[in-house]
Amino acid sequence: MLHIAQCMTDRSKCKILGQLPTAVPLVLAGCTGRQSALDPAGQEAAEVHHLFVVMVIGGGFIWLAVIGLLLHSLRGQQRQTWSEEGAGRLIAWGGVAFPVVVLFALLVYAVWLMPSVRPWLARTVPEPTLIEVTGEQFWWRIRYPAEDGVAGFETSNELRLPVGERVAFSLRAADVIHSFWIPSLGGKMDMIPGRTNVLSLLPTRTGVFKAPCAEFCGTSHTYMAFSVVVMEREAYDDWRRKQASGNQPEGSEGEELFTHHGCAACHSVRGTTPVAGLGPDLTHFAERETVGAGTLANTRENIERFIRDPSAIKPGAQMPAFDMVPQGEIAAISEFLAGLR
Ligand code: CUA
Repeated sequence: MLHIAQCMTDRSKCKILGQLPTAVPLVLAGCTGRQSALDPAGQEAAEVHHLFVVMVIGGGFIWLAVIGLLLHSLRGQQRQTWSEEGAGRLIAWGGVAFPVVVLFALLVYAVWLMPSVRPWLARTVPEPTLIEVTGEQFWWRIRYPAEDGVAGFETSNELRLPVGERVAFSLRAADVIHSFWIPSLGGKMDMIPGRTNVLSLLPTRTGVFKAPCAEFCGTSHTYMAFSVVVMEREAYDDWRRKQASGNQPEGSEGEELFTHHGCAACHSVRGTTPVAGLGPDLTHFAERETVGAGTLANTRENIERFIRDPSAIKPGAQMPAFDMVPQGEIAAISEFLAGLR
């Protein structure tokens, strides 16, 4: 406050104003991108963005009024321009009436907006496809239901959705509380052990987005994210059919070692290994963006690093280190996984 007051009286003391030309574009650059609630790609996120803009403008008016009064009072100290009665009126109107009116108007607007942020719960739209998402330490189990003659299937750490169609998620937690949030599309909602929460979203444009876990859930909470790919209906149906049919066995050395070293006891590669269901499903793993639920780019080198010592990359990960497996065999397993298209 003092700094702003000094700015008004002596420009040479004002460092903030000098830094504005470089600071503003940098700050605004943080408002776009694939993990930004301020760059909406879904109906719910657009409503939240709308609310944010209105709140910032409303809050800005209050801020300007308070700063104006502050500056006025700083100058008034020298000139004693206010009578006691006038000062009382100023406090009543400026300090009580103005904030109450603005804040009440913002509250009314926020309450009015609520049904459009949760249209599915308001039963204003038909019941959408229900995708099950379960938060686990520290990854995402995702189950798609059978739809239009395509069987249901499980996948992990990547969500694919059709553009322009409402979908709903039934949200659960396997161990501790996690939180489901796709900033670009909408949300968020907690995932609580022993409870099922339902959240519905409507993606409005295609693209690839990032969804972080939004509730502290342990040492690798930061390394728990999933990709969201919003696609045209036709591409989405192709993807579903491919997922449902699984991978083809190839009889490679890596595929054999995957079972031999016990990877298949936790991870399924549908079509080539029996269903395990303990760790993340790895069917069509090579098509995903990341290794370790949003932790590393999906490259052969990173798969090797992860197999050798997951905890070095993701502290607290349930998967044990496989550093006793000869390097050549880890390379073969990584090649197998990197080829699962
Ligand atoms: Cu899961 Cu934070």
